[in-house]
Formats: sequence, C-alpha cells, structure tokens
Amino acid sequence: MKPALAVNDLSLAIGGAKILDGVTLSVAQNETLGIIGPNGAGKTSFFNLLSGIRHVTRGTIFLGEKEITHLSIDERARAGIARTFQTSSIFPNLTLLENVRIGAQASLGGSFNISKNAYKFTDSLDMAHACLQQVGLKNRELQIAGSLSHGDKRRLEIAIVLASSAEVILLDEPMAGMSVENVPELVEIIRSLARVHHKTVLIVEHHMDVVLGLADRIAVLNFGELLICDTPEKVIANTTVQSAYLGEVL
Ligand SMILES: Nc1ncnc2c1ncn2[C@@H]1O[C@H](COP(=O)(O)OP(=O)(O)OP(=O)(O)O)[C@@H](O)[C@H]1O
Ligand SMILES: [Mg+2]
Repeated sequence: MKPALAVNDLSLAIGGAKILDGVTLSVAQNETLGIIGPNGAGKTSFFNLLSGIRHVTRGTIFLGEKEITHLSIDERARAGIARTFQTSSIFPNLTLLENVRIGAQASLGGSFNISKNAYKFTDSLDMAHACLQQVGLKNRELQIAGSLSHGDKRRLEIAIVLASSAEVILLDEPMAGMSVENVPELVEIIRSLARVHHKTVLIVEHHMDVVLGLADRIAVLNFGELLICDTPEKVIANTTVQSAYLGEVL
C-alpha cells in the first residue's frame, strides 16, 4: 500500500543556515508517527514544509500518490493535509460551532474524498455537531471560542481538523500549556483520530510519556537531521538519541 505521506531528501535553508537537511521518511496510512527532538531541532519547520507555509530548498513531498512539494497551503489542504499550530489558531470571536462548521463546509464543498471519514454527513452543521461531540465540547457549542480555557481550545482545534476530512493530520505540541490533569483526556482524543477515524497522524510532542503512549513509530530530529525513525523501543535504546538529549531520561 502507498504510504499516506512520504518525504525524500527534505531540506530547508534560511539565510545559509541549514534548518532541515536531507530528511527522508514515510508514514503509513493510519499510522501515528511521533516526532521528537531538542528545542530548535526543526520539528515545526518540518510541519511548515509539509503544510506549505514554507517551501523546500531541496527534496520532495508526496501525499499518497500525489506530489504536493510545490503546492500552495490551500491546495495542500484540499489534497488532504491539516495541521494544528504550536500556539492556538482558532477564530476567537466565533462560537465553537461556527469554528468547526467553517472547516466542515470547506471539506463538504470541496473535492475531498470523505469516504473514509467515520462521519458521512452531507450537511456541514451535522458534521460540526458530531466533531464537537467527539472532542467532548458538544454541550458548549454556542460559547464564544475565545472564552475557552487553553485545554479546551486545543480540543476545539482537533474538532476543526476532524471536520476538515483531511487524511493526514499534523499536531504541533498539542499538550503545550495543558494542565497535567487534562492531558490523559486529550491523549484519548488524539488516539481516536487514528483508531476511530482512520487518520494518519504526525505528532510533535515534548512529553515523552505522551509520545510513547500514542506513537507506532518515532522520528528523532536533531540540528535539522533525522537521527532515527523506528519503533519506540528501538528509539529509546539508541545511544545517539540519548546523547542528543544530553543525558535526559527518555
Ligand atoms: N524564519 C526563520 N529564520 C531563521 N531561522 C529560523 C526561522 N524559523 C526557524 N528558524 C530556526 O530554525 C531552527 C528550527 O526551528 P523550529 O521552530 O523548526 O524548531 P522546533 O524543533 O520546532 O523547536 P521547539 O521545540 O522549540 O518548538 C531553529 O534554530 C530556529 O531558530
Ligand atoms: Mg516547534
């Protein structure tokens, strides 16, 4: 089966600095790939290249059969890739329902293949209701999004990517700023993206326990290079990875 996402020799240089250098990896359909690495390793830059915020200096990106290397952000979104940001990116003055409905409308109105989506709605409102239910925000859908707690904003963002019908979902530090007691619930919501909705998930996360609990494989970036992309067990046992973290316990 074709991988859901494949990058080959992916490289980004800004002003002579190598931000990413020769990253080659693929992600299977329905796989959850954890992406870890020290601060400044290039994790967010990797997502910026995948989602089209930045363009590659070298290398290729395939989404299934389709090459998306030189497509715009919108074209990539239509091709089926969606992301959340390291900092929240919702419309604060709109209700939760409106926030999610916008994503649902784009997907239902566009040319997405939504056949694999667990929800087969033709109506964007129904889809928005269902996605909010999925993340546990159904009873607050008429609330203004800006009034949500940080943790609930992250749940809303996941409802928005769910409504987009994208097959490949990029999550950049979804647990950032969450209080510890809310982490397990968000982990379960993220797990459901692959298990229930059959999405392919790439998750950048500093909390190692979260990555280890969710990821089928883990990619380690260090100074813009891919050190290893393997099972959690093999990554933890890798001495180069351990030294990249300067003795931190993985
Ligand atoms: N626009 C830019 N111009 C110059 N350098 C940049 C730019 N954006 C990012 N960088 C540099 O690229 C490197 C990788 O940054 P990136 O944000 O991708 O790291 P990260 O792994 O996501 O880090 P963190 O864990 O802190 O989020 C860093 O050294 C950063 O300073
Ligand atoms: Mg980052």
